[in-house]
Amino acid sequence: MIRVRGLSKSFNGQKVLDAIDFDVATGEIVAVLGPSGTGKSVLLLHLIGLMTPDSGEVDIDGVQVSRLPEHALLKFRRNVGYLFQDSALYDFMTVEENLAFPLREHGGLKAAEIKSKVREFLEMVDMADAGMKYPSQLSGGMRKRAALARAMVTGSKVLLCDEPTSGLDPIRSRDISFLIKGLSKKLGCTTVITTHDVKNAFRCADRAMVLHEGRIVIDGVEQKLRASTDPFVKEFLE
Ligand SMILES: Nc1ncnc2c1ncn2[C@@H]1O[C@H](COP(=O)(O)OP(=O)(O)OP(=O)(O)O)[C@@H](O)[C@H]1O
Ligand SMILES: [Mg+2]
Repeated sequence: MIRVRGLSKSFNGQKVLDAIDFDVATGEIVAVLGPSGTGKSVLLLHLIGLMTPDSGEVDIDGVQVSRLPEHALLKFRRNVGYLFQDSALYDFMTVEENLAFPLREHGGLKAAEIKSKVREFLEMVDMADAGMKYPSQLSGGMRKRAALARAMVTGSKVLLCDEPTSGLDPIRSRDISFLIKGLSKKLGCTTVITTHDVKNAFRCADRAMVLHEGRIVIDGVEQKLRASTDPFVKEFLE
């Protein structure tokens, strides 16, 4: 379960997050929606402790993320799957090596076990034939799928996806949205995705929140958001 309370962050006097509160229940998928530059990535970076709040708390499965010392943060991050906005695969490693890397970091697995885990997750994202390829040899959609497999391969129960459909055509965007939903539910992950792609957000998420001027202006299921009379929400959802 993710609990965020009073989360605030400013840069150079500009308030990007202004006392944000929300919960994500265990096993739930929530989308954080908002136009470019509203602070979606900043919010996600706080969840994984790559940014420290000016004030407020982030609690993930009982861990006070915002208060962890550096060594504990490194350990905590290993248990959170993070799909970066630009996929962030290691260019000098094949897809298989990209997946094996976090498994080795985790420790405790024999070479044969790592190999079979890597194969299992590549199959889940329909990349079984591309394990020997380098990221530069993949299409954008394949890179996203490989990055998703890498984010999940260690069995993390928390999955954070920053703009999973950015740079993808409508078909690949739909595919990755359903893939995130399917895998997240299958593996029992508590998942947060950020996006400005409303259509795909609702394909994937159980619930969505709209971020505007540092605040969550609405939080609920698709029907609730669609029925909103708030001018900003209405305009954004169109
Ligand atoms: N490290 C930083 N230092 C200073 N300002 C920052 C930093 N990171 C983010 N910002 C500012 O915070 C605001 C929100 O940025 P953020 O990247 O979270 O937006 P976003 O909603 O993810 O946008 P996009 O949809 O384009 O990814 C922007 O004005 C950005 O310039
Ligand atoms: Mg962003």
